[in-house]
Amino acid sequence: MEEIDALLTESRTFPPPPAFAAAAHGNTRDPWSRADADYEAYWAEQARALEWITPWKQVLDWKPPHAQWFLGGQLNVAANCVDRHVRGPARNKAAIIWEGEPGDRRTLTYWDLFVEVRKFANVLTSLGVHKGDRVGIYLPLIPECAIAMLACARVGAIHSVVFGGFSPESLRDRMNDAEAKVLITADGGYRRGQIVPLKRNADKALAESPTVTHCVVVRRLAAGVVDDTFSQMQEGRDHWWHRLMEGAPAGHEPQPMDAEDPLFILYTSGTTGKPKGIVHTTGGYLTGVASSTKLVFDLKDDDVFWCTADVGWITGHSYLVYGPLANGATAVMYEGAPDWPEKDRFWSLCEKHGVTILYTAPTAIRAFMKWGDAHPKKHDLSRLRLLGSVGEPINPEAWMWYHEVIGGGRCPIVDTWWQTETGSIMIAPLPGATVTKPGSATQALPGYAVTLLDSAAKEIGIGGGLLAVTKPWPSMLRTLWRDDARYVSTYFSKWDGRPDLYFPGDGAKRDADNYLWILGRVDDVLNVSGHRIGTMEVESALVEHPAVAEAAVVGRAHELKGQALCAFVTVREGQLTSLALRDELREFVARKIGALARPDDILFSADLPKTRSGKIMRRLLRDIAEGRALGDTTTLADPSVVAGLKAQYEAQES
Ligand code: WTA
Repeated sequence: MEEIDALLTESRTFPPPPAFAAAAHGNTRDPWSRADADYEAYWAEQARALEWITPWKQVLDWKPPHAQWFLGGQLNVAANCVDRHVRGPARNKAAIIWEGEPGDRRTLTYWDLFVEVRKFANVLTSLGVHKGDRVGIYLPLIPECAIAMLACARVGAIHSVVFGGFSPESLRDRMNDAEAKVLITADGGYRRGQIVPLKRNADKALAESPTVTHCVVVRRLAAGVVDDTFSQMQEGRDHWWHRLMEGAPAGHEPQPMDAEDPLFILYTSGTTGKPKGIVHTTGGYLTGVASSTKLVFDLKDDDVFWCTADVGWITGHSYLVYGPLANGATAVMYEGAPDWPEKDRFWSLCEKHGVTILYTAPTAIRAFMKWGDAHPKKHDLSRLRLLGSVGEPINPEAWMWYHEVIGGGRCPIVDTWWQTETGSIMIAPLPGATVTKPGSATQALPGYAVTLLDSAAKEIGIGGGLLAVTKPWPSMLRTLWRDDARYVSTYFSKWDGRPDLYFPGDGAKRDADNYLWILGRVDDVLNVSGHRIGTMEVESALVEHPAVAEAAVVGRAHELKGQALCAFVTVREGQLTSLALRDELREFVARKIGALARPDDILFSADLPKTRSGKIMRRLLRDIAEGRALGDTTTLADPSVVAGLKAQYEAQES
């Protein structure tokens, strides 16, 4: 049985504001009708918005579970993201407005980007990088991230970005799996006022990464810091970025790439085992991200688009770099933490740079709620016209706060569901056409076939079940790097004899309006007295209480009920915790969504264990609740949080 009970009902609805809808790119059901009428023709039309060197001969070749898109077509991603804008009216437009954590600023126009990307492409060639070679990128969030990624795309090299917060071991494993030839890093970066010693980490990694023969180092810190404090430049292997660029020729012809040539590998850690190298291609990936950026974010020429994700995650690849640049837009890039030097940093950035579209994660939104309204209220956020959310289910209360306090009640919210594997957004509203509901990602975008199935692959009408994708899509992952068997077993083996069905690993429910509500990872689903409950619903009920900022719910074995519910709760700033509050919260949940979901235990905690991309790690909370030794904690943002929680939980038990 893999059906999931649906407990929470949310009846608030938000139609697109009329003035917004009138000016929006997608303000009717027309894109869905066209996609439903002829699915391949719809995607061909989206792909034609790009610049192709050679037109494709066949839109789709689908031999489940392997798809190829735009066969015979050739294009270059860097030429699409830079060169064609330089030839047009966007030549002198800001492509990237960057701010460092210490407050330093740089703006690169499309012309500037053109100059830098071509030069760095020549640098890569001079280091022996050819089409198909792998290049590692391990940088702070600085403009060189985009320059390096685009230069790889220009010469046809496959980049693999490793988040700058990852350890030397993680970097080493990824470089070895990809057999990278070159690593691009920096002396360091800034995070919460501290220096992140990237070069020192890279040195440790490279000592055990035999395939990497060259390391290019961006100077981000004051001159001399690397040599004195962190590490030495290694003769022959290490080169300063600025020195190589000084000698690089200006001209460079982009390498024509087949639509199906890989553009990048991005490793996802997954919950267990070795990281998976997700492989994305050139033509399909760019089609998916370019089209979704324009439609979902209703991107216009004068927008200032800020996606707050790091380039180390797929969100940074698709909506900080490739999506906005493919559309000739202006993207904001910020290096540091949201609470540095003060908790209003995001709002000061929005005000200063005139951000019109903000795209961030529920974990950040809940942190802002916890910190209080005073921080955003200090700033003029009136230029904002659209807000986005990604990465986890957004609780209705967080959605409402985002809408009212950040969006001033006037900005539509696009809750966007997708994954590293899907490459681009799959389930989301079109802000000019879709009536939104707080907590629902609404419906599949035009051109996507998403449904809910039970464990026998039978479609579920209204109710909860397993999310499934029934048709291939252009930006889908093609395989796992050098592990196609794992690709097949992880994503296309959920339903026997149905290699055409993609399983994302998430549960969801469908309501009477055919809206989808993501309930969380199927692995996290709770099982209480024979009822399967998604974590999202109990957590949302808790967050609805005015004292609560964030909650994570897990199950622990229980003799009678199968599982008992354990809730880990963070309260809002200034709120005191007490036994009375604990009892009140248990009753609050029971009243909201039913006695079945009343938490057995509630533990107050200043923080919850999260991955570095901000997702709550329920697996570790389960270990705590079940009294087990903690599993792998290496992907945690702050390992001390979980150790502290374990001690607290055990003290409460005894
Ligand atoms: C979760 C991030 C609910 C989901 C782009 C998915 C979401 C996983 C949403 C992928 C959303 C992402 N609502 N859940 N709007 N967006 N998720 O690979 O569980 O880092 O499977 O990609 O995040 O995470 P990933």
